[in-house]
Amino acid sequence: MSAGNLLYAQSGGVTAVINASAAGVIEAARKSKKIGKVYAAKNGIIGALREELIDTSLESVEAIKALRHTPGGAFGSCRYKLKSLEDNREQYQRLIDVFRAHDIRWFLYNGGNDSADTSNKLSQIAGKLGYPLQCIGVPKTVDNDLVVTDTCPGFGSAAKYTAVSITEASLDVASMHESSTKVFVMEVMGRHAGWLAAAAGLAGRKETDAPHIILFPELVFDEAKFLAKVKATVEKVGWCTVVVSEGVRNAAGKFLSEVGTRDAFGHSQLGGVAPMLAELVKRELGYKYHWAMPDYLQRSARHIASKTDSEQAYAVGKAAVAYALAGLNAVMPVIRRRASSPYRWEIEPAALNDIANHEKKMPADFIRADGFGITAAARRYLAPLIAGEAYPPYRADGLPDYVVLKNKLIRKKLPAYRIADK
Ligand code: F6P
Repeated sequence: MSAGNLLYAQSGGVTAVINASAAGVIEAARKSKKIGKVYAAKNGIIGALREELIDTSLESVEAIKALRHTPGGAFGSCRYKLKSLEDNREQYQRLIDVFRAHDIRWFLYNGGNDSADTSNKLSQIAGKLGYPLQCIGVPKTVDNDLVVTDTCPGFGSAAKYTAVSITEASLDVASMHESSTKVFVMEVMGRHAGWLAAAAGLAGRKETDAPHIILFPELVFDEAKFLAKVKATVEKVGWCTVVVSEGVRNAAGKFLSEVGTRDAFGHSQLGGVAPMLAELVKRELGYKYHWAMPDYLQRSARHIASKTDSEQAYAVGKAAVAYALAGLNAVMPVIRRRASSPYRWEIEPAALNDIANHEKKMPADFIRADGFGITAAARRYLAPLIAGEAYPPYRADGLPDYVVLKNKLIRKKLPAYRIADK
């Protein structure tokens, strides 16, 4: 006899392995007699509000298995902030109405800081409204900025892409520098925390190895110091590769790459610091440049995913269901590092209260004294996270064999709901 249904939703920026967490959730839930149907909200919490619930039981065993190697968010994700209960009680009431109408007793929300906050609030509010609901956060973010957990599923794969890409591009620049490009600038994600930029540092060992310069959002950008380092590197090595975090700020605290738009959480949209720096180098030093902004390429690059990351993403999905069945509420399965070499990790529950709305930045001892590289401690932390390959299967036409789900919605039972302002 089932005790109710489970709702899973994806939230925020997706990753190369968020679907592996979905597979972990669905496969574990399918094994339990206690859980009836597993629904997935279409486009995250927006789908829950609109009562757009996908019936995952219509997806085959093979399709769910294929989620483990398919990037993007298979059910759709969103950036949508629930207002506070005081500001919009009706929105929470609506969610509870939807949950009640479909006998949803477990809500598993796969996201980062903001989503942990949403799950936390929802669990408190369900309590206040007297609806029996367990909310479990499932960690995910390429930014690697969730506290408590050793790392965030999604990060290791994006980190691997970053380290591999700068290795390859540096070989290219090295070949051309005599008569052509001398400086290459690659921009990576990471709004407030330089984890992805730091991961590029795994590509080199010595200060003269590429990438020669990493610019972290944790440090204020110093134009003169940057230009001097580029010049010194080109004079010594012949060429220079730079990795810059999208979140780098000037002394006034302003993002170098702000494009002027904001999302529902009030975050500025970032992007474009690489061309800005490349132009600066050309103007001040006269070097020919190329630049790249992998943007979504880095967070969707499942073809070069980290095996460790992919396994952790799956494991947190499975653990979330185990916690749900064990009666836990307002928790998140987090990764606990037991050893770095060889890397040993375990999953354990942590309170959403301790995770929501906190941000983990690069510790000072992970950044080299000159501010342009990573330390041995950072290398010890980062190296295991990009370890191993988990290539997707490829089709005869040479493309990866990714799955697209049916995503069939169940019949609505409630009146239509209009989402206010996104
Ligand atoms: O999810 C984190 C992140 O990838 C950030 O690093 C990046 O700034 C942001 O998402 C981009 O968000 P969006 O896809 O909503 O523009």
